[in-house]
Amino acid sequence: MAEFIKVATKAEIQNGKMKAFTIKGKQITLANTDGEYLAFDDTCSHAQCSLAGGYLDGYTLTCYCHGGQFDIKTGEVLGPPPPSPIGIYKVKVENEDILVEI
Ligand code: FES
Repeated sequence: MAEFIKVATKAEIQNGKMKAFTIKGKQITLANTDGEYLAFDDTCSHAQCSLAGGYLDGYTLTCYCHGGQFDIKTGEVLGPPPPSPIGIYKVKVENEDILVEI
C-alpha cells in the first residue's frame, strides 16, 4: 500500500538541483524547481541511465546519456530517444521534511 515516506530535508535539495534516493527498493529522483519539489523514476526509459545526473531547466530534464528529455511534472517524453514516459510520485512537504508517496 502506498504511503508517504520521508526522503530528505529541504536543505539537501537546493533550487535547480536533483538527487537520487532508494526508497522501498526503487530508485527515485527528487528535484527542486523554484521551490517546488518533484519526484520521479531515476532510471531513464531509454538505456537506464540515472536521470539525477542530467540537466534540469524548469520542468524539463535532459538525460546526460543521449539527450532524451522528460517533463518531470507529468513524466512524459518531450524529446527522443526515450520510448516511454517515466513514473512520477506525489510529494508532500512538512516543515523542513520532504515526503514521497510510494
Ligand atoms: S539513457 Fe537517457 S536518453 Fe538514452
